Amino acid sequence: MTKTSSERDIKACVFDAYGTLFDVHSAVGKHRQRLGKRANDVSATWRTKQLEYTWLRSLMGDYTDFWQVTGDALDYSLDAHEIKDQTLRDDLMQAYLNLTAYEEVPEVLAALKEAGYKTAILSNGEPAMLDAAVQGAGLSSLLDECLSVDTLKVFKPDPGVYQLASDAFGIQPSQVMFQSSNAWDAAGAAYFGFRVLWVNRFGQRPERLPSKPDYEAANLNQLLEILGI
Ligand code: LAC
Repeated sequence: MTKTSSERDIKACVFDAYGTLFDVHSAVGKHRQRLGKRANDVSATWRTKQLEYTWLRSLMGDYTDFWQVTGDALDYSLDAHEIKDQTLRDDLMQAYLNLTAYEEVPEVLAALKEAGYKTAILSNGEPAMLDAAVQGAGLSSLLDECLSVDTLKVFKPDPGVYQLASDAFGIQPSQVMFQSSNAWDAAGAAYFGFRVLWVNRFGQRPERLPSKPDYEAANLNQLLEILGI
């Protein structure tokens, strides 16, 4: 793939964390036997509620950090699936601190660093949970910044969140290539003015929102091709 003039301007590659770098379903995956047939449904409800609560809390003007939101969403999911097991609840939360990174992630980040790009996470995650995930996956040396919405006390897709990334590097939004597997996050980032790769890991349909991502791929390997690496 030949680089277009706008790709030549890219200075930083910024990544959503949960679902994009880290497999959110790997937490339930670690305790699959204890959940039995309900495992996939528990995980799906947990993730859906977690995201809903971020949007709702932002709209309500009642921010609480993503660790709390993640716990509240898990409580909802366990209740909805009629599971009462405090030890399992605690173990699932613990597992969320040590999620599995998708397999291509270390190589892609290393290639970007080698090619001279700045790299960062930009996430709803609360800083300590992001640090735990980054360290657990051995990614610390491959990321220049780990940016959290917690400094703003509002969740994605508030435009101020995306501004954090261009400010961190002192660059224009159009010089950021943003990667997210969350289609709504990809739309929010494109609306803000980032160049956007939607990592459509789950074969979802495109969102009907005001802005569209520039690229779509099944995983992060395509990013290297887009940037001509
Ligand atoms: C994040 C959520 C959206 O990492 O996955 O920001």
